[in-house]
Amino acid sequence: MSVVEKFRSMEYGPAPEDPKESLAWLDSRQRRFGHFIGGEWRAPVEGKYFETADPSTGEKLADMAQGSAADVHAGVKAARAALAGWQKLSCHQRAKFLYALARQVQKHSRRLAVLETLDNGKPIRESRDIDIPLVARHFYHHAGWAQLLDQEFPGYLACGVVGQIIPWNFPLLMLAWKIAPALASGNTVVLKPAEYTPLTALAFAELCNEVGLPAGVVNIVTGDGATGEALVKHADVDKIAFTGSTEVGRAIRRATAQSHKKLSLELGGKSPFIVFEDADLDSAVEGLVDGIWFNQGQVCCAGSRLLVQESVAEKLTKKLQTRMGTLRVGAPLDKAIDIGAIIARVQLERIDGLVKQGIAEGATCWQPEIVLPSRGLFYKPTLLSNVHPTSIVAQQEIFGPVLASMTFRTPREAVELANNTVYGLAASVWSESVNVALQAAAQIKAGVVWVNSTNLFDAACGFGGYRESGFGREGGREGLLEYLEPAWFRNAPVIVAPSTTENGAPEVANPSSGIDRTVKLYIGGKQARPDSGYSIPVYGNAGALLGEAPLGNRKDVRNAVEAARKAEGWGKTTAHNRAQVLFYIAENLSQRGEEIRKRLAVAVGERQAADEVRLSIERLFSYAAWADKFDGAVHNPPFRNISIAMNEPIGTVGVICPASTPLLGFFSMVLPLISVGNTVVAIPSERYPLIAGDLYQVFETSDLPGGVVNLVTGRSSELLKVLAEHDDLDALWCYGDDAMCAAAKALSAGNLKQVWTNEGRAIDLFSADQGEGRTYLQHAYQVKNIWVPYGE
Ligand code: NAI
Repeated sequence: MSVVEKFRSMEYGPAPEDPKESLAWLDSRQRRFGHFIGGEWRAPVEGKYFETADPSTGEKLADMAQGSAADVHAGVKAARAALAGWQKLSCHQRAKFLYALARQVQKHSRRLAVLETLDNGKPIRESRDIDIPLVARHFYHHAGWAQLLDQEFPGYLACGVVGQIIPWNFPLLMLAWKIAPALASGNTVVLKPAEYTPLTALAFAELCNEVGLPAGVVNIVTGDGATGEALVKHADVDKIAFTGSTEVGRAIRRATAQSHKKLSLELGGKSPFIVFEDADLDSAVEGLVDGIWFNQGQVCCAGSRLLVQESVAEKLTKKLQTRMGTLRVGAPLDKAIDIGAIIARVQLERIDGLVKQGIAEGATCWQPEIVLPSRGLFYKPTLLSNVHPTSIVAQQEIFGPVLASMTFRTPREAVELANNTVYGLAASVWSESVNVALQAAAQIKAGVVWVNSTNLFDAACGFGGYRESGFGREGGREGLLEYLEPAWFRNAPVIVAPSTTENGAPEVANPSSGIDRTVKLYIGGKQARPDSGYSIPVYGNAGALLGEAPLGNRKDVRNAVEAARKAEGWGKTTAHNRAQVLFYIAENLSQRGEEIRKRLAVAVGERQAADEVRLSIERLFSYAAWADKFDGAVHNPPFRNISIAMNEPIGTVGVICPASTPLLGFFSMVLPLISVGNTVVAIPSERYPLIAGDLYQVFETSDLPGGVVNLVTGRSSELLKVLAEHDDLDALWCYGDDAMCAAAKALSAGNLKQVWTNEGRAIDLFSADQGEGRTYLQHAYQVKNIWVPYGE
């Protein structure tokens, strides 16, 4: 064919990337890999291997070691042994290693990109231009954090040995997201790559040796889910970081509940892609190509739900179908291919099964007339329209090149549809009006919102989910915090269970001063009788009966959660308003301070009561101060975007208050939450629940809107179960002994609510260092990154 003929037909010729070098690399390792442990290659203890194959051809690439519990143990042992040496290095020394890794990734970028495409089936265009450059960027960014660690995080300790489990959709990039922050903050690592895509992790292991990373700082153990499970359950692992399916995330939440392992989960999504009628429709179509056909749609934050305003739905659909007809599906190593292979047959069948189910539920299926390769695992780009919002294809993660489309009439309806999911990972909003776009972005419950753009990632911008998309962030300052703990928190002593009848003389003159007090529950701004109709006796230090407190139950908690939900306008009111209310509570507490102190003294002694009242007033001032100062950030990623990192309230939070500090403990837990805009259902101190009466009397005179703080007294361990299992609570804070903290975590797995506990440790709430400040605030909000483009 002559050039002129080619030009006329505009046919694509083949443009294959040569895999020779990467295949030679595999050959030079005899296409058989052990685990990378303590800087060496080790054969699996049980001698078992599994195959990894190219999903675009089905050809076997190599044999990989199947990690057993013994292999995992060896990896953890190596990481533990390396920890002290790694931490002894200066920040600068660790930074140099991260920098060297970034450089080494760049030097071998093509080999890594080809290996990734061979093992995963993603287009070389994506592995070469997106995955690998982002890997390098992640190590560069974290080389910076390693350098600044002591300056920026004084008083923090690394978690220690970190177990990391990653999926197959972005194998090397997920490795970078995990390993770079862990190393930068002084941890050592055992990482388990996904069973379908272990190759680039092992190539990376070689880079670690090439840059002279101390042996054992990074360990890679390959294997399947069972290997992952062994890592999760290993007793000597201090933190687990996981990316993968929500189901496995739930199992990991349960499996780690009894331990003190810190946990971050990056799970599934069903992200909305919202097109308003004033959007630039051609750009939106290109956005959809990147949103749902990038990486064959096997992306946790894929824009898999198209929500389009009714007035432009037909026009957009036509444009989209035309564009879909030009997408090229085929050999991933071809540089002009848009859509590569699906990772595995089971995944292909899953996609197809869901599509068929969607059609059976009334969706219309449209696929372009393109020819798929005769072998390998491929699926056509697919548009499902007329999808009902409750259909399985609108609710479940398909993880394939399938777009489910729905229409809406008003911006409000768009937001309602967008939030009609258990997930909350990402969203994409298209409108030429900055007001419309940012209004929607603010209302969507998701960790990332892209305005007029999609699937943008940067190491400086935290990525992670709301709701069942998980908790914790990767990237940025907040991502680093996932690998650190305040020293005071880690080193706090274990709580000694308080004896109910403490011996010794009462420290007060008149122990009966509290008798005959009627205390009620406080729900939605009103005093309420308990549903149970029962009360529990409350005794003082010397065993005298002080009064009776209502015995709250499941129904009271349900009412309280409902009231708290209704009060969520608190999070949207101005920070200035919240600050004023907190100052006012301080003023009113101060006015009643003397009588409250006297009553409290019967329960906790004169000295403590005086300290609790004084410090509670101070704490109220602190959080009134913080309310309008705990700002987010604006990031400058290396694109023509800014990313606005907003600190948003988590929502409605259940709180089990410390038993031994009825007043100060309550304020220490509740104030950080409400100062940033959460609403709360609090279970006051079980030891002295009568404090509830004093609290709501103060609230009632302080302009605190009804429902922002709800008080349900009763037995903490029973109410803890109700709170933890409540699906409409977004988070749970629990201050208690080890058993209570473990129960809080295990029972919360249902809706994967965020759980923060004292890990059964006695925190010194009387000191400002331990009792208030950033550590509390950091658990009281979640970051939403809103990406906004600028320029033409
Ligand atoms: P998966 O969640 O089973 O696998 C992710 C990683 O977890 C792999 O390394 C796997 O070996 C490991 N793993 C599996 N079971 C484990 C356990 N009990 N304990 C510890 N580690 C365990 O995901 P899978 O089966 O590969 O994909 C199934 C579906 O999950 C997909 O169709 C997709 O919907 C979703 N998914 C979501 C991802 C995301 O990035 N959000 C990534 C991968 C899958």
